[in-house]
Amino acid sequence: MSDDKIIDGKAFAATVRARVKTQVEALQKDHGITPGLAVVLVGEDPASQVYVRNKARQTKEAGMRSDEIRLDATASQEEVLAVVDRLNADPGIHGILVQLPLPDQIEENAVLDRIDPAKDVDGFHVINTGRLQVGLPALVPCTPRGCIMMLKERLGDLSGRNAIVIGRSNIVGKPMAMLLLQESCTVTIAHSRTKDLAGLCRRQDIVVAAVGRPHFVKGDWIAEGATVIDVGINRIPKDDGKTRLVGDVDFDAALPRAGAITPVPGGVGPMTIACLLANTITAACMANGIDEPA
Ligand code: GUN
Repeated sequence: MSDDKIIDGKAFAATVRARVKTQVEALQKDHGITPGLAVVLVGEDPASQVYVRNKARQTKEAGMRSDEIRLDATASQEEVLAVVDRLNADPGIHGILVQLPLPDQIEENAVLDRIDPAKDVDGFHVINTGRLQVGLPALVPCTPRGCIMMLKERLGDLSGRNAIVIGRSNIVGKPMAMLLLQESCTVTIAHSRTKDLAGLCRRQDIVVAAVGRPHFVKGDWIAEGATVIDVGINRIPKDDGKTRLVGDVDFDAALPRAGAITPVPGGVGPMTIACLLANTITAACMANGIDEPA
């Protein structure tokens, strides 16, 4: 029974990627456009290298152009900005992603704000955050876009539902809250200073956890039948000295109460790269003034 409750992000991401692949074929056939995504990696952070490798592989599998630009960990801010400028000027590149975190000598905001907003497939540029805020067409951050897709697939119309977003980061919490508001949810944004978080959570139809703390959300915070989206990816030690990944929600305790819940791993995570590809399609279509293929 409880298997039906678990939202399979891996399977859903595969359907998103399949749709992207069909869209790429349509763009090539009908408009002669091959969407292109460039990923910039500065340094050798092991987790970032894995992400970047996966992004490149999935971009190619979708039939898109994939450029990978690697810079030394000691690269200067000017060198990184010069790469961004070159990609901004390249008409075959429709999406640019600079992998975060960047080394300390580089000012993150300066780099993110140098990316042409029309190619900002991360949706981190102030122009895109502003456009999202006022309800104009925008490139929106990949993880929140994936969360909204999963919620709509599970629940259909989100209008009028009570939703809480726990966490107020620029990458997840804030854009997630804006997207839920756009879907006409009644949105609460909770954070470390929020009073009676447990009580607030118990009144919600939708709980989105994005705090980056393992098992922060307890099972008895979840209302009977609520939908739980767990954005957290936390590595914790096991008894045998190895580690395992867990979310921000105490999954085992929340599962019996939730109407639907995303697991970690295999929930939100796989959706993020799929949405990056979807954002690259969006960017390529916006740049060429055409509607997205079905
Ligand atoms: N590092 C970890 N997640 C992300 C992401 O979504 N975008 C970028 N640019 N860097 C990241």
